[in-house]
Amino acid sequence: MTGYLELYDDVYQQRRLFAVDRPLAADPLTVVAAGVRPNSIAIQGGAFGDEGKGRVVDELCVLLCRRTGSGGVIYRWNGGANAGHTVVINGQKIALHQLPAGVLMPGTSVVLGKGMVIHPGDVLAELRDVHNLTGYMPDGLYVDEMAVLALDTHRAMEVTLKRWESGGHGATGRGISPAYADVLYRHPIRMRDLAADDWQDRLGHHYDLYTAQIDGLDGNLEAQPVPRLSGEAVPVGSKFVFLDRLAAQRAMLLPYIGNVYDFLREQWADPDVPFIFEGAQGAGLDPRFGVYPDVTSSDPTFGGILHSTEGLVKPGQIAVRAATIKATYTSSVGTRRLPTRMDDPLASRIREDAHEYGATTKRPRDIAYIDLPCLGFLSRVTDVTHLVLTHLDIAYPEVPIQVCASYAGGASYRPDQAYLDTVTPEYIELPSWDGEALEGATTLADLPEEAMLYIAYISQALGAAPLLGTTGPQRDALIPWLPE
Ligand code: IMP
Repeated sequence: MTGYLELYDDVYQQRRLFAVDRPLAADPLTVVAAGVRPNSIAIQGGAFGDEGKGRVVDELCVLLCRRTGSGGVIYRWNGGANAGHTVVINGQKIALHQLPAGVLMPGTSVVLGKGMVIHPGDVLAELRDVHNLTGYMPDGLYVDEMAVLALDTHRAMEVTLKRWESGGHGATGRGISPAYADVLYRHPIRMRDLAADDWQDRLGHHYDLYTAQIDGLDGNLEAQPVPRLSGEAVPVGSKFVFLDRLAAQRAMLLPYIGNVYDFLREQWADPDVPFIFEGAQGAGLDPRFGVYPDVTSSDPTFGGILHSTEGLVKPGQIAVRAATIKATYTSSVGTRRLPTRMDDPLASRIREDAHEYGATTKRPRDIAYIDLPCLGFLSRVTDVTHLVLTHLDIAYPEVPIQVCASYAGGASYRPDQAYLDTVTPEYIELPSWDGEALEGATTLADLPEEAMLYIAYISQALGAAPLLGTTGPQRDALIPWLPE
């Protein structure tokens, strides 16, 4: 832990920038290295989700497409309708949940991978929203037949479990954990089941099973209201209604459901086709590395790509594995108590300035100081090569940026709430800059020295080179470290 304090001296006393004031010496996207597939980027949340990944993927699509003249493949490897990516285009906001952000770029092929849990009705509603905003549909939409369904039955189960205080607390209500639990119980319903000729039998059996389970927990599946994409809550309905609703959705989704492996293999073999892997949630929500119960049930780390692509893509082959973090603070939702939780008035100021309210649930998010023992742990266990630093504009010249560089007594980070309640963060104060003055900043030369020093410090601390910074929510409010 003392390493972060020594680094502080190195950067701030010696004013060493570790070359963050210039573009990367070698372009990580085109560099030819053994075992590395050029033109491939994976974006993972580096903290607790909501770091702005969707927007970053949207920008990367534009950037890569400009470079290669090809739309490329955008691959989502985990989670489902629990994610909420807000992207602003031409002043209009769109919240994406199950579709990756690349869907907003003409000419891309969008793949919903095997590692996801998908709600068919909501995904169709989202496609309609995208069409209304952009006027087009994705060139190619590929839904892995092995992806699991997260249906209204799962949403109803989540509500029921919440009543029993046995799960579902803080969850997004999208039935994520019951859908993944079905896999471990060895009775998942997959896209393949929905596409099968006898789908009504398979899904009817699933409905009966959930009726029995929810009955046993004093609930009522048929009457249970569950949330739709619009936020409106609608009862699951009788088996007939449930199947009837699915019949219409199935008819619309069928053309897109299939074995995506052959398509992926072909595209992956052509190094000129850009690949962007978009993760949902963040490493701090991983069930192994996050703090129970505020963890999700999928694999939000780069490791999840291997399994989702059925062994085709090994994370180490991806040229850039970038973790996205908010540059000057961290946000969190749920019941998690972060050791570095920030108090008002600064927390409220940041919450309002950065609109820190959930895209899926609209919940106000907790705001915390950057916690290097925690972020360093997440960066190490997920093997990050680069950093995307969002919200560089959330900085106030008169308020130094407080960063936790150690826990008292040299304690290390462990993902266990009872333990984290006992640690005492030790802070350092770093000079800040005028975030508002970054409006319109698009090159490294536009960054003040304080921001450069700060970026040098954080990127060295996390052992990853900066790749992109964002200076506002709109497209192009972006500073690339990628060479032209
Ligand atoms: P679930 O993913 O809906 O099961 O929720 C489990 C936990 O993960 C809860 O604490 C949620 O608040 C959190 N979570 C799920 N998705 C996101 C996300 O996209 N951003 C932030 N937190 C999330």
